[in-house]
Amino acid sequence: MTMQNNLTVQALQWTGDTLRVLDQRQLPEQTIYDEYSDAAGVAKAIATMRVRGAPAIGIAAAYGAALSARRHYGAADWRQRVMDDIELLAQSRPTAVNLFWALDRMKTVLNQQLEQPLAAISACAEKIHADDIAANYAMGELGADIITGARGVMTHCNTGALATGGYGTALGVIRSMYRRNHIKVYAGETRPWLQGMRLTVWELAQESIPVTLVADSAAAWLMKSGAIDWIIVGADRIAANGDTANKIGTYSLAVLAKQHGVKLMVAAPTSTIDWKTSCGDQIEIEQRHQNELLAACYLKEGSVVSAWNPVFDVTPAELISAIVTERGAVLHPSEQSLRILKNESE
Ligand code: MRU
Repeated sequence: MTMQNNLTVQALQWTGDTLRVLDQRQLPEQTIYDEYSDAAGVAKAIATMRVRGAPAIGIAAAYGAALSARRHYGAADWRQRVMDDIELLAQSRPTAVNLFWALDRMKTVLNQQLEQPLAAISACAEKIHADDIAANYAMGELGADIITGARGVMTHCNTGALATGGYGTALGVIRSMYRRNHIKVYAGETRPWLQGMRLTVWELAQESIPVTLVADSAAAWLMKSGAIDWIIVGADRIAANGDTANKIGTYSLAVLAKQHGVKLMVAAPTSTIDWKTSCGDQIEIEQRHQNELLAACYLKEGSVVSAWNPVFDVTPAELISAIVTERGAVLHPSEQSLRILKNESE
């Protein structure tokens, strides 16, 4: 490995020649890494959810572009071939903006006339990875400062090391908070793909952080019991006005939180903010195949039974108490207040 990452859980391992991807479909039963040496393989790994979670998708795609450059360098039209592979990677999933953000950065380096383009392209992917880990640690501390005094928190989906370069966004805040003060952590199961039950519970258990699993349908009753002060989630895309697309079920939790006086924190790196998208209505919501939801016995040709399977929803900014990024936190986000996080180049 060229990049040092001493975290226990690693979704992605870059060897310099290949990308090793932990197959998250097999967790928690089996820990299996698949090894990829071309962009097409990485695109498939993203589309089939071997690797998932917005920042991890972006990092994997960046390494996919680096693999493409290694493969095609030397051909007269190598840059065009890499651009074609970048286009293929961009089609792997539609909602997580980190994917397009990372590929744009790779395109910029690809189009520079450098003496050692291959080294520069690999270095760009490694930097995207390293910066994400650093951002997560920063967010962890900032988020923990905000929830000081909380006794219980609930999270949704998986936003930890598995979903990022390492440490995690929302789960990073929970990790940092747990180190300061042993709060009680609840994880929603996150139907239908069970990222909470299979991944978050497993990931926290690797570090002996106690976690209590709740059925998604138990969330309202949990809030009513008074056990949680905050819901802490990640994001796949944050619009310029603070509307946030995240795993399906986040919007339900936000509505329930309002009813019960529970606060909602979104923790995400600034690479998840899509400044070109003004509000949540403009975010494309991925629909996945109905066989992720329907029992096999209903999946017959010509069946009258079908399933509606949107895998993200949008929580309006007005239901969000805080958006935490590596550049700082914004309370009660709005188009105006979020601008403080914007760099001039964006
Ligand atoms: O479909 P997934 O598992 O890729 O969805 C993941 C989420 O919705 C996460 O909450 C989000 O990507 C943030 S991960 C730090």
